[in-house]
Amino acid sequence: MIVLALETSCDETAAAILCQERGLLASEVASQIALHQAYGGVVPEVASRQHLTQLRPVIATALAHAGVRMEEIDAVAATAGPGLATSLMIGLSAAKGLALGLKKPFLAINHIEGHLLSPFFPSPCIPSATGLVVSGGHTLLVDVDGFGGYRLLGQTRDDAAGEAFDKVGKLLGLPYPGGPVIDKLALTGDPRRFDFPRSMLDSGDLAFSFSGLKTAVRYLLPKLPDRSDATLADVCASFQEAVVDVLVGKTLSAVRASGRKTVALSGGVSCNSRLRAKMGVACRGAGIELLVADAALCTDNAAMIGFVALHRLQREAYSPLTTDIDPNLRLV
Ligand code: KG4
Ligand code: ZN
Repeated sequence: MIVLALETSCDETAAAILCQERGLLASEVASQIALHQAYGGVVPEVASRQHLTQLRPVIATALAHAGVRMEEIDAVAATAGPGLATSLMIGLSAAKGLALGLKKPFLAINHIEGHLLSPFFPSPCIPSATGLVVSGGHTLLVDVDGFGGYRLLGQTRDDAAGEAFDKVGKLLGLPYPGGPVIDKLALTGDPRRFDFPRSMLDSGDLAFSFSGLKTAVRYLLPKLPDRSDATLADVCASFQEAVVDVLVGKTLSAVRASGRKTVALSGGVSCNSRLRAKMGVACRGAGIELLVADAALCTDNAAMIGFVALHRLQREAYSPLTTDIDPNLRLV
């Protein structure tokens, strides 16, 4: 079984080829970051036009790298949501057209499920776990009871964790996206210099809130004694520490309450070096196994979409060609 998977939910044009027996054969990602940097964030119209021109070459490169001909594809999958409507429609329409032309099954995949299951890649069996999905668009804790057995434990009430990184990056005058830049600058900073709020850490539930933290950074900026590189690094480290403390604290509460023995960390923010380190220490201390995907599988990619598609194929859970995009698609 060979699957062609497409992902165009935001600003990455991605295609991957996966084989049930041989694993991941190719994963191509054409990033649009440079195009959107001038605007300080993703411009949907620009993203959509770029997907339109990039998708065919990205698919061709994936096929070439995999050494697979289009006629050998057994199923075509694409992200149906959540995401930007004008971006989603390019990948989903292309996948439907290819499936129709090839007379092969089509699978519409939930982007959040792609992230959620990426730490288990390439296992054919999904164990029970507590999943934390942290990306630019999502922050949610999910109880995973095997493939398809998802229960929402808590999610953000306002900004996603990655969105907070990007907005704080913008406040600090850093290039888009702020997350990786803040991660790097924080390496030389003092995480204890500025005491930012750990919002909702003791709220007694598993909900998150990051908009207050962003506001706290905004209020601090005019009061800074200087704008030196060292002070900037301290702001980055202190902000990052506040986000990480909340994510680690809530995840440990969730995994303890559910009685699971594994934490599966995913989404773009799971690339964060401090989050990986502190989550690792906390899980080890609690006797919990921590699974984190390879960095290439953390930010948006089509391999994670193909991975979900392979699990769906095993169950012959195909999607009708009438399936439409859903920008607000929920996981559960
Ligand atoms: O999963 P992703 O590629 O797209 C969404 O589904 O949203 O996540 C992108 C997000 C951005 O907000 C970016 O700033 C953040 O992931 N990110 C990071 C790091 N690398 C990417 N945030 C913190 N530290 C990083 N190293
Ligand atoms: Zn994503």
